[in-house]
Amino acid sequence: MTARFVVLVSGRGSNLDALQRACEDGRVPARVVRVVSNDPGAPALARSRERGIDAVAVPHRSCRDRDEFDARIAETVRAAEPDWVLLAGFMRVLGPRFLTAFPGRILNIHPSLLPSFPGLHTHRRALAAGVRFHGCTVHLVDATLDGGPIVAQAVVPVLAGDDEDRLAARVLEQEHLLYPRVARWAAEGRIRIEGGRVHVEGEGAAPPPAARYP
Ligand code: GRF
Repeated sequence: MTARFVVLVSGRGSNLDALQRACEDGRVPARVVRVVSNDPGAPALARSRERGIDAVAVPHRSCRDRDEFDARIAETVRAAEPDWVLLAGFMRVLGPRFLTAFPGRILNIHPSLLPSFPGLHTHRRALAAGVRFHGCTVHLVDATLDGGPIVAQAVVPVLAGDDEDRLAARVLEQEHLLYPRVARWAAEGRIRIEGGRVHVEGEGAAPPPAARYP
């Protein structure tokens, strides 16, 4: 069975690329059937079209308010009949009209070890806080900002001499491993919520990290 993914993006789309490659080479039994962006100028949209993927803009600026944006984006996503909706660098908060249309079927990747550092500028804030470990999280999306049930995380040590860019680059490398891995679990129908926590069938309580560091 091949699952149907719709991916929501706002910018460069490197996580979309990682997901797309993993679907193409068979690591993830799914197909990206549509890419949707709130920004018509997003490089991720142009690249998707070059590859022949259906790519649609729903500009938030053309909507009266958040409710209309939610309704229009929900309709655009629903029309592609997705099994899962994957947010990959999607920079708008989605409201109840969208969330209730795809209950328990929306994933997001966030560049920090949640619940630390929800929101923006996570690498800068991690460095300022002096944490020794940083990383990324894939979680189910609910109405809280970067707050839904955690599916998997990858840990990245903060090294002496790190600045925001270096740390961000090492976290991004892990994002590109972690998201396809979780996407595979989703496509295989192995993600369940029990008592508010995510259980991944066949993976035990704490799935191993995506990569090791010395
Ligand atoms: C990633 O760091 C992702 O975790 C965050 O936004 C960034 C998007 O990067 N939500 P890209 O567009 O996937 O390259």
